[in-house]
Amino acid sequence: MTTINVNNQIINVDAEPDTPLLWVLRDHLGMTGTKFGCGMALCGACTVHIDGAATRSCVLPLSAVAGKSITTIEGLSKDRSHAVQMAWLEIDVPQCGYCQSGQIMSAVALLKTNPKPDDADIDAAMSGNICRCGTYPRIRKAIHRAAELLDQSVAK
Ligand code: FES
Ligand code: FES
Repeated sequence: MTTINVNNQIINVDAEPDTPLLWVLRDHLGMTGTKFGCGMALCGACTVHIDGAATRSCVLPLSAVAGKSITTIEGLSKDRSHAVQMAWLEIDVPQCGYCQSGQIMSAVALLKTNPKPDDADIDAAMSGNICRCGTYPRIRKAIHRAAELLDQSVAK
């Protein structure tokens, strides 16, 4: 049994210690917002936050996250009210949608460390998140919009 903290909930998981976190989330906990793409840390579809940092959950064993704080797309907000989610909806970013939870998690992590990224910052930070539908221009636009929304909420 491994005890983990997912979205501020302490959960005991009965899985082998080398089980990738992605499968713990999806198969053991039913949190299917985090997606499987490549299973090799190459596409970013499985991105979650570990202690606030964007991390590929497909290659991260359960044993490595005991005692750490895990945030998934389900934990960003209860009602899609996180600034990045609002910006994504406003700009209508997704096409098929498959890569988008990973894109959003990477964008949230970027804005935490760099609240006003320029295009080059965005491209660098998001380069590990692949979108087969080519939504990159809208992702960039939505990150700029989310930065504005976050700035406005800080100014209030
Ligand atoms: S599924 Fe993890 S990076 Fe592709
Ligand atoms: S929206 Fe289809 S893969 Fe990104």
